[in-house]
This record gives sequence, C-alpha cells and structure tokens, in this order.
Amino acid sequence: MHYIEILLTLWILTFSRTSGRCISRANVNVVEGEYFHLKRCPCTSQNKTGAVKWYKNSDSLGSVEITSSSSPRIVLHNCTLEFWPLELSDSGNYTLKMSDDSYEWKLNVLRRSNHRCYCENLVETELVEIGGALSIDCDKMYLYNKSLNSTSLYKDCEVSKSGDSFIKKEAEFKDQGYYTCIYFLLHNGKLFNLTRTRNIKITKDISIPHIWGPKTETIDVELGKDVRLNCSAPVADFSTLEWKYESLPNVHEENSSRYLSPEGVSNRTIILIIKNVNEKNLNTTYTCYFKDGDNMLTKTFILVKKAMMDIPDHVFTRGMIITVFISVAIVCLVILGIVYRVDLVLFYRSLTRRDETLADGKEYDAFVSYLKECQTENEEAHSFAVETLPKVLEKHFGYKLCIFERDVVPGKAIVDEIQSLIENSRRLIIVLSKSYISNEVRYELESGIHEALVERKIKIILIIFSSVSDLTFLPQSLELLKSHRVLKWKADKSLSYNSRFWKNLLYLMPAKAVKPCKDEADFVPLIS
Ligand SMILES: *[C@@H]1O[C@H](CO)[C@@H](O)[C@H](O)[C@H]1NC(C)=O
Ligand SMILES: *[C@@H]1O[C@H](CO)[C@@H](O)[C@H](O)[C@H]1NC(C)=O
Ligand SMILES: *[C@@H]1O[C@H](CO)[C@@H](O)[C@H](O)[C@H]1NC(C)=O
Ligand SMILES: *[C@@H]1O[C@H](CO)[C@@H](O)[C@H](O)[C@H]1NC(C)=O
Repeated sequence: MHYIEILLTLWILTFSRTSGRCISRANVNVVEGEYFHLKRCPCTSQNKTGAVKWYKNSDSLGSVEITSSSSPRIVLHNCTLEFWPLELSDSGNYTLKMSDDSYEWKLNVLRRSNHRCYCENLVETELVEIGGALSIDCDKMYLYNKSLNSTSLYKDCEVSKSGDSFIKKEAEFKDQGYYTCIYFLLHNGKLFNLTRTRNIKITKDISIPHIWGPKTETIDVELGKDVRLNCSAPVADFSTLEWKYESLPNVHEENSSRYLSPEGVSNRTIILIIKNVNEKNLNTTYTCYFKDGDNMLTKTFILVKKAMMDIPDHVFTRGMIITVFISVAIVCLVILGIVYRVDLVLFYRSLTRRDETLADGKEYDAFVSYLKECQTENEEAHSFAVETLPKVLEKHFGYKLCIFERDVVPGKAIVDEIQSLIENSRRLIIVLSKSYISNEVRYELESGIHEALVERKIKIILIIFSSVSDLTFLPQSLELLKSHRVLKWKADKSLSYNSRFWKNLLYLMPAKAVKPCKDEADFVPLIS
C-alpha cells in the first residue's frame, strides 16, 4: 500500500514538470474508447520543428509515417502522440524518430467490457489489512496533464453516493471491491474519458485475534427508534466475547450466535439491542470485550443523535413560492375587499338578514332634509327628495322615510317638531342644492349636524347633484363629514337599482331585513 503510494508520488514528481506522463514501458496495454497518449522523455529535438517523426509499423502496410492529417482522432505535438480516443485498430508498433534518438512502443488496445466500467486486464490489485488505512484518491492517480472536466469515483461500477473522488478510512471487510476513477476530459467540445481501476482486497491474518470493524464506531440514531449493536470476532473455544454497558431498562443482550465468514473462519456474534432510544442512551458507551488467552481487545460503540436534516433546497424553494403566492393572494383579497366593501356588506346583510332597526325604538329610518320651495334651479333636488327617494327606498327597499312636506301635520311648532323627528330617525339624508344653505331648512341641517357630530346620535348622508359643482358654499361643519358619507347623484348613471349610487346609499342606511320587490322594474321610475 505505502509502497504503491510512494511510487505514484515519485511518478508525479518526476513528470509533472513536463507536459504529462511519459510512457517508458515498451509494452502498453490500453482500452478502446479512452483518451491516451504516447510520449518520449526527454524530448531533445524540441527546438527544430519537423525534426521529430512518428511511424506506425504493421505487418500489412509496413512502416507508415503519421502526420497531423492521418486521422482527426490523432494529434501530434513533437514527442507526444495523442489519441482522441483509442480504437482497436490503433494496436501496433509505434516508432518515434529524432535526429539523435529513436524509440519504439508496442500498443495493445483491449476491447471494452460491456458489463463493467473497467477492463479486468488493466486492474492493479492492492491488499489492505483489515483495520489498516484504506486510501483511494483519484486526483493522485491522475497522471496526465490534460485539464480535467470532472472526476468520479466508482466502487464496483456504482458511483460513490457522497460524490467524492476520494476515500480515506479504516479498512473493513465490506470495503473490498473494484475502485474505478473515471476522468472526463474536454477536447474540441466533446467529452472523453479515461479510467484507472484498483482492485482492493481486504486481508486478515486470522491467527491474530481481532474484533471485526473499527475499534470505535459512532452510530447515528433517531430518538424513539431501536438500535442493534453487532460485535463479531473469530473465536477459538477458550476465548470469551461479552458486553459491558450501563444497565438501563431498554438495553438487552441477544443470545450469541455463530457464523462462518467469507474466508471460512468461524465467528461468534453478540448483539446488544437498545429499544426506543432515549437521551440517557446517548451519553454512555457500549463496549464489547474479547478475551483470548492474554489478549484483551475492545470495541466501543457511541450513539449520537442524528443531526436534524436541513430543509432540502427544493422543499425550501417550493415553500418560498407557496408563501409568496399566499401573501399575494391575501393582499389581492384585502384590496378586493376594500374595493367591493359596499357589495360585500350588502351581500352579508342579505345573507344574514340582519336588522339594526328593531331595538332602538326609533320610528323612521331616515329624515330627508331638502329645500322645499320649488324654484327652477332646485326643481331637480326637490323632486328627487319627495318622489325618487321615497319610491326607491320605501317601495323598493322597504325603508321608512320622514319627509317634512308629506309627514308633518301643519300647525305645530315647526322647530320642536323637526327636532323630535330628527331624534326619531336613524339617518339624516340631506339633499343638497345651492340655495339650501341660505334657506330656512338650515335649522334642520344645524340641529341634525349637531346631533351627528356632538352627540353622535344620528349619521348624516349627504346627496349632491352632479349639476352642483361648486361645493365651497358648504358649511364648515359639513366638511368634517367623511367622504364616503357624501354621495353624488348622476341622473344618467344612477337610474338602475344596481348602480353604485343606490348601493352606496343602502350601505349607509341602517341594515334592515328587506323584502325584494319583484314586480317593479329594474330602473328607477323617471321623474317627469
Ligand atoms: C467513457 O467513454 C466510453 C467511450 O466513449 C463510453 O462508452 C463510456 O460510457 C464512458 N463512460 C462514462 C462513465 O461516461
Ligand atoms: C534547444 O534550445 C535550448 C535553448 O532554447 C538549448 O539550450 C538547447 O541546447 C537546444 N537543443 C537543441 C537540440 O538544439
Ligand atoms: C465540463 O463540460 C461541460 C460541457 O460538456 C461544460 O458545460 C462544463 O462547464 C465543463 N466543466 C468544467 C469544470 O470544465
Ligand atoms: C454482525 O456483523 C458481521 C460482520 O461484522 C456480519 O457478518 C453478521 O452477519 C452480523 N450479524 C448480524 C446478526 O447482523
């Protein structure tokens, strides 16, 4: 083992300064399909181009000079002849001729195996003693200076699970096998490979007592799972094999058994079972003692809690995507909820048939305040207040309005009457027109606003006509109204019962279990 390593190191030291490995053996066995080169060191004719000539000798054709144009697979650099890759037909004798030197190789290209990743004839065998150092390092075994694309290590033609291209451990019997390093090289945009294989044989001088496996074994365990500790040794009749451990209720020994190892040696196995592993089992050691005459050997097991797996990358990415997706969905829902707040509230009211008007003892749902005199410029507002509003809110939606002109018996003290009517209503609807403020209704307005803003007894709904564009005449106290309590009537767009205007108005009105009126038209009856 060490001998081979030293030899390889020497090789590398000798030739790494030159361009790649020199081939000094006269007989060279190689395998088809791989990269290979023939190279003579030292190359004394480096200075003069054309001073180096390569020949291939075959029985049928005699000696033929190889030039750069011989084959696209073959590349010439002075004293180096490269094959990208080797073919069976490359077998033969090769001669390198320089002015003052010549050299000959016999190249033997072997057929690839269809079943294995290595060629049995090219395998180096290496013996490693059990418990000794098993060391395989593909990088150290690479003797060409062509830059590598990648390297992989295979055991018995299966790629190593860790993806590492080296192994360094205490040799166990199960480590026996064929270790193949596969080197991938990039040439003219194509990947080529070459392989180096070692057959590792694990040996044991069975006359020396031993316990199988490393002296100390660390075992990854999951809490709550069962663990079996296996201690086996080739035993003679007078030797003993036994466990020493801290006695805990969940630790038991199994009856010992015998088995024949692959080398034909009789072994004894004792097994310790730890059921339902808990924290107490972790901080202690389990030692197997083997006594054979004067020899005393031990093997120690240590249980280590298995590190929690990190979240694998793809799970993490998926989690991120789902999180982002859900966040976006929530934001969208919130935005939709804000935009369609009115529709949602109305839908909710109709679904639950909620009624706010039952328990407060008030008679009217809304007191409608408007300008009573019929001047031409206010005609629209007036007819809206006394005709359209009651038609829609009372007939279609089932509210009860208080309209002064209609509901107040003349003759009472107007001021007191208005005061008590407002107190008896749940909303104050103000139908605003330009001359409203200067008018006598101002009293309604002010006592209503007073109730709304100071005593918080009544909520104000302000309806403005689109023809009223200048709002500077509004009293200051009304400017304090929240903007969603101000509705704009647009004669052309607000006609349908489903229009924004009526929805917003219903939203501001108290919730009332409404009977939909089926026989009425979809549109607000037009006012003449
Ligand atoms: C190495 O190259 C040979 C021939 O080109 C190919 O058959 C083989 O599959 C390659 N090996 C790997 C591991 O790709
Ligand atoms: C090649 O050139 C080097 C210097 O560049 C010189 O030392 C060497 O002697 C030359 N070799 C031959 C064979 O001419
Ligand atoms: C190996 O070759 C592939 C193309 O076949 C290339 O994409 C990759 O970058 C190469 N890797 C290295 C380390 O050169
Ligand atoms: C115990 O380990 C040995 C090798 O170390 C193995 O051959 C044997 O089958 C194992 N026994 C059990 C019961 O696992």
